Amino acid sequence: MTALRDDFFRYVCQTSPAPLGIEVARAHGCVVVDNNGKEYLDLLSSIGVASLGHAHPAVVQAIKDQADRYLHTMVYGEHIQQPQVRLARRLAEVAPAPLSVTYFTNSGTEAVEGALKTARKYSGRSRFVSFIGGFHGDTFGSLSVGGNPLYRAPFEPLLPSVTFLPFNDMAALAMIDETVAAVIIEPIQGEGGVRIPNNEFLPQLRRRCNEVGALLIFDEVITGLGRTGKLCACEQWGVVPDILVLAKALGGGMPLGAFLSTPEIMATLSSDPPLAHVTTFGGHPVCCAAGLASLEVILREDLPRRAQRSGDELLRKLRVLVGAGGFIGVRGRGLLIGMDFATPEVTKSFVQTCFAQGLILGWTLHRDTVVRLAPPLIISAEQIEQAVVIMREILRRNG
Ligand SMILES: Cc1ncc(COP(=O)(O)O)c(C=O)c1O
Repeated sequence: MTALRDDFFRYVCQTSPAPLGIEVARAHGCVVVDNNGKEYLDLLSSIGVASLGHAHPAVVQAIKDQADRYLHTMVYGEHIQQPQVRLARRLAEVAPAPLSVTYFTNSGTEAVEGALKTARKYSGRSRFVSFIGGFHGDTFGSLSVGGNPLYRAPFEPLLPSVTFLPFNDMAALAMIDETVAAVIIEPIQGEGGVRIPNNEFLPQLRRRCNEVGALLIFDEVITGLGRTGKLCACEQWGVVPDILVLAKALGGGMPLGAFLSTPEIMATLSSDPPLAHVTTFGGHPVCCAAGLASLEVILREDLPRRAQRSGDELLRKLRVLVGAGGFIGVRGRGLLIGMDFATPEVTKSFVQTCFAQGLILGWTLHRDTVVRLAPPLIISAEQIEQAVVIMREILRRNG
């Protein structure tokens, strides 16, 4: 063991019994390199963050340029900072209308917290509805609407008045009534095992929310910014939420989250009382500069379309492997793909063997028989082939 590894285990709070524990020397494009010079192909994009690949030159340059101008100057919402304003304006131009006002945060869970608070204050109602298997972050509010009792139980009591409905179940939508402030949902469940709803579910959910006056919050922390083949996954179903939550890829590798809504809904945060929802670091100018540079690359290079094409190719190649080594099925949208395995043991062994062979991929938090692939949207055809060759060999050896 090197001293760095010893210190990692001794001084950095451990959150899992078996961390991947790569000693990172550098990371660029789709590759992470460890201190021994071993290269790993990152098929997870650091769990959805590195959509442009690691350390995209345009993002790094924007960070350097902004760092030369100013870092932090005042809590979010007080000073007029060019990178923040320009990113908010660009988001308004590309997000589904009429979502044109952005509140910036440091992370996904903070953006979810802000969305829930906004919905409560705007609606004057207190109840939330969310979905079994959903994941929205680990702070108290987000955890309260998280759809896995195993992760809620150690921290209870959480927010009262949360109703959990089965995902993709039209009949259950009748449970949404006039007492509901907001319904929060991931359009495609990520940690829930890359679950894709049928074509009618989200449009029907939108209709039900309209009927009872509940706000609809789409958590697109994982699915947003091109990953599923559209800039926002909600475009796949032609459904516009009342509040859209983004994070992960938004900062191009820097910590940045956001929730967007209409001017009318967002005005609720301006008064009664003012300063009722503020953040010191949310919308940090360096993060927003990185986020703007990243968004411009996504749009200029039409990465949603590239994700669609590369995802179709990867799915096609993986379908051929179904049946070997306990691999029983595969599904996906764009470059968000779930591989089903027969048992948790075979899933874990597959992930570990892939890792030893230089592929970073992961099982999901709520489904221990699903392996998630979410590679950078810039992954090349050669890298896709390289990954499939390694996986094919491992599955073949596992029988
Ligand atoms: C769908 C979804 N929402 C929210 C979050 C929380 O984001 P963060 O870890 O930035 O707080 C995550 C994190 O994985 C997520 O997948």
